[in-house]
Amino acid sequence: MAQATTETRPMTEEGDHLQIQAIDHLHFYVGNAKQSMYWWWKGFGFKPVAYSGLETGNRQFASYVLESGKVRFVVSAPYGPSQEMAGHHMTHGDGVKVIAIQVKDVEDAWKATTSRGGQSAWAPREEKDEFGVYRTSAIHTYGEVLHVFVDRSDYKGPFAPGYQPLDYEAESTGLAAIDHVVGNVQLGKMDYWVNFYHRVMGFRQLLHFDDKDISTEYSALMSKVMENGNGRVKFPINEPAEGKKKSQIEEYLDYYLGPGVQHIAIATGDILSTVRQLKANGIEFLRVPDAYYDLLPERVGDIIKEPLDEINELGILVDRDDEGYLLQIFSRPVQDRPTSFIEVIQRHGSRGFGKGNFKALFEALELEQERRGNLDN
Ligand code: FE2
Repeated sequence: MAQATTETRPMTEEGDHLQIQAIDHLHFYVGNAKQSMYWWWKGFGFKPVAYSGLETGNRQFASYVLESGKVRFVVSAPYGPSQEMAGHHMTHGDGVKVIAIQVKDVEDAWKATTSRGGQSAWAPREEKDEFGVYRTSAIHTYGEVLHVFVDRSDYKGPFAPGYQPLDYEAESTGLAAIDHVVGNVQLGKMDYWVNFYHRVMGFRQLLHFDDKDISTEYSALMSKVMENGNGRVKFPINEPAEGKKKSQIEEYLDYYLGPGVQHIAIATGDILSTVRQLKANGIEFLRVPDAYYDLLPERVGDIIKEPLDEINELGILVDRDDEGYLLQIFSRPVQDRPTSFIEVIQRHGSRGFGKGNFKALFEALELEQERRGNLDN
């Protein structure tokens, strides 16, 4: 396999103009917020911390906020067919509508991005309640996804105005922070969105994988990884590449009916314990053929601290590079449509994305695609 190209592009002239601090939250539009909440709570070990709905005066939609470590997910479903949220759900099924980003100043972020060609979703605004002032602005990115800029420095409530605190007990699985959020875009559009993140958002390109890196006998994809100034926010962008059969990215685009968030990688400090708990909770993961584990000691055996037999038993994947190694595993889709899924990742020095696992992983994915009747063009 060819080496991934590391091309660290410079920032735009003004540098990291957004001064992004971190991802604030991901907001999913779903068909049934109560049941989605239960999935993230009992399946993934998130703690429900806030609620908005009829009981809090919200006549439009039901919404729950859940947290695990620094990860914050919001799941919302409309009460009726007339809201924008309902149309979104009818088209896309459950999926990520908002990737919210914490910034110091939402007005600066909005001006900096819209003046560089970003399309405004809403101008800077303030919402207030007894907990303080919550400031946001927003722009469009790929598909129907929004980047909402959030400043919660003057807000002390559980999430945002309109939400009341919830205090549910939760058993954490150790999911600690979002490592990266991957977008799938149409054939030929990857460079457009790479440029968007570079020019509009001030990101630089960290890595590039072409179809020689990411192809099996059948299907292929291309990917470029964009990261922000402090390196805490990473957004890989995938597009399908020509192959003998249908690319996994095309399957996504066919079922999501357009570009959208493909997977969310969440970091843990102890992947063995996290995956063991997730599996006990009923979460299902892809499993690569056993031959992968026969070759593992030779590939990575001398540097990894975790016992190889446990890694094999749990179906965890390992990759190494000059800087260290990483452990990762991928869930089956987290809704009916074969669209979004979750990656669990633990890094030991490596800043890569598991290139050494692509082939085995994509062959496992294609097997699932075939079972769904979606591998043939
Ligand atoms: Fe990933």
